[in-house]
Amino acid sequence: MTKQIRTAVVGLNMGLTHAYAFHESEKSDLRWVVDLDEAKAKSVAEDLGCGYTTDWTTILDDIDAISFCTPHHLHAPQSLQAIAAGKHVLVEKPLANTEEECLQVIRAAEEKNVKLMVAYVMRYVPGVVRLKEVLDSGKYGRPINANCWIEGFLPPSPGSWFSRKDMLGGGVLFSHGCHYVDLMLWFFGKPDRVTSLGTHAGTEWMEGEGTSHATILFESGTLGHVSCSWGIRHAEPPALFHIHTTEGLLALSRDCLEITATTSTGKEVIYTGERNPERSSNTKYEIEHFLSSIAEDRVPETNGWDALQSHRTIWAAYAAEGVKVKE
Ligand SMILES: NC(=O)c1ccc[n+]([C@@H]2O[C@H](COP(=O)([O-])OP(=O)(O)OC[C@H]3O[C@@H](n4cnc5c(N)ncnc54)[C@H](O)[C@@H]3O)[C@@H](O)[C@H]2O)c1
Repeated sequence: MTKQIRTAVVGLNMGLTHAYAFHESEKSDLRWVVDLDEAKAKSVAEDLGCGYTTDWTTILDDIDAISFCTPHHLHAPQSLQAIAAGKHVLVEKPLANTEEECLQVIRAAEEKNVKLMVAYVMRYVPGVVRLKEVLDSGKYGRPINANCWIEGFLPPSPGSWFSRKDMLGGGVLFSHGCHYVDLMLWFFGKPDRVTSLGTHAGTEWMEGEGTSHATILFESGTLGHVSCSWGIRHAEPPALFHIHTTEGLLALSRDCLEITATTSTGKEVIYTGERNPERSSNTKYEIEHFLSSIAEDRVPETNGWDALQSHRTIWAAYAAEGVKVKE
């Protein structure tokens, strides 16, 4: 049996699913869980049978790879320190809050010859992977118009890092919409022009926008639209994705467990999946990819350069502030 990769997870909210996935994987030996909240770290460690600490910098000699599931402004400094110690890094999205920091982290990982992967969990979900295969097959023609709806409610937390633009790096588009901008770039290729508008209405506690509409025109001619919000009290989104092609409509359900195709001959279900019953849920697939990338010495699909390209798309969308309507 190949040697297990010694792993650690820092930040145990979203990071809980990372810890479960490392714990469940045969490729990993989960050595440590880390949180500033010692009681939380202790309880997770007892559950998973690993060590715990509040200071991740003290465990570097005992691990090969580390996952950072911490507030966004910490991603770059933490990743840089772990990379300098020669550790493979999985960092939650976004890679960093500025282009300069992203480039520093990417170059540091290249120089140290360690894997750097950004945790774009959606990219590895089987239903999303299937949708990409269907699009690439050309069976339904060329994509023309793609719509994506992400409607959620974030309980107001004034003063938290979520509320602060300098820590979050923007608003809901940068923090949550980034998954779907990333997917659109994966599906449709190189973005050409982009625009967005955002509002604070209903999410006044946030410095960044809490509701955003972003539109991307791809070089291929496909037009994509991402509508995302943390202010939705009663969500009724039609699907996760509707992709209209020259031959029909491909729809991916919100749980990513069904794809339907509607064409001139009617509507058919072309994919059904099953939920991963383990506690790692959808995070299992990205963690397996990260571990395989290390074991097989391959560049992860959602590597630093990929993340930077989708962050640049969002930064350009923020810069396009719309044109004031004449009175
Ligand atoms: N589906 C998704 O992809 C998804 C969902 C939620 C969050 N996230 C991402 O996960 C990351 C964390 O978000 P969250 O919602 O879990 O944030 P959170 O604030 O709820 O939790 C962060 C945790 O990290 C701990 N922490 C902070 N600094 C630390 C440090 N220096 N050392 C050790 N522990 C530290 C905190 O105590 C806290 O328990 C973000 O990048 C966020 O965008 C991704």
